[in-house]
Amino acid sequence: MGIYPIVLSQNRFTHQDNLTYPFEERGLQFGDGIYEVIRIYDGQFYLFTEHVDRLFRSAEAIKLQLPFSKEELKDLLQDLLSQNNMEKDGIVYLQATRGSAPRDHVFPGGVIANAYAYVKDLPRNLANLENGVSAIIKDDIRWKKCYIKSLNLLPNVLAKQEAKENGCYEAILHEEGIVTECSSSNVYLIKNGHIYTHPATKRILHGCVRMAVERFAAELQVPFEEEAFKLTDILDADEIFLSSSTSEILPVVTVDGSPIADGKPGEFTRKLQEAYREDANISERQLTI
Ligand code: PDD
Repeated sequence: MGIYPIVLSQNRFTHQDNLTYPFEERGLQFGDGIYEVIRIYDGQFYLFTEHVDRLFRSAEAIKLQLPFSKEELKDLLQDLLSQNNMEKDGIVYLQATRGSAPRDHVFPGGVIANAYAYVKDLPRNLANLENGVSAIIKDDIRWKKCYIKSLNLLPNVLAKQEAKENGCYEAILHEEGIVTECSSSNVYLIKNGHIYTHPATKRILHGCVRMAVERFAAELQVPFEEEAFKLTDILDADEIFLSSSTSEILPVVTVDGSPIADGKPGEFTRKLQEAYREDANISERQLTI
């Protein structure tokens, strides 16, 4: 359990103890960087290309030159798993920043990006998947480029902490009554057999699991409406669920203390969870949620 010893630093492998950064580092001082969290089941990446593509889109959006190409990064990350003999369920966390340089808001000249990645065990949360979770509602106070997976997560951290302090798992965010997403996941409402979720604009992160949910909905012939829903729609919903690489597809059974429908995970969410398990090739021994 825990973090595996071999980590990726730039395009080389090293022991985690060797990974140190100076305190004048732009990720540390400005949050001037981007990241990805990629799910692993039985030692295999899930939605791998989607995550690598998004990392490169985020890099381009902040004018960051990554120290590897897409193909090089894919090979490096595969090697990271094999170097650690990783064969369980887990995640890779990868971040890239604008590098180490004397503190100055202006981009440093001639400085190479700092990139690292590590692997960690993360068992599936079977109790949450089975029973569903609770959420609170919070104002979305983030910046206007949420499609970038930026290291600047202070509003997300504050919202998630408040959820926790209220005995909840997530915070559903809204902008003037329009639901955008959650602090660290995308959110969906089901009404009369249609799935509604905020369109993939700059206001939300374009989740890799969200892309998979869209695909599952098409396979299940459930209409996937990229139409934002309102706070006032929540208590009339048939089902609410959220999605992320760490949470998978998770039923939300109460919001701000009120039950959604009968307060139990709904049938469409169950079908999507099943589609997820098949798509991610989650092994037999883990099939019961
Ligand atoms: N968070 N929206 C936000 C704000 C997120 O931080 C995340 C993921 C998602 C879902 O994205 P994906 O389906 O690609 O995991 C949506 C990751 C897991 C994290 O920050 O730990």
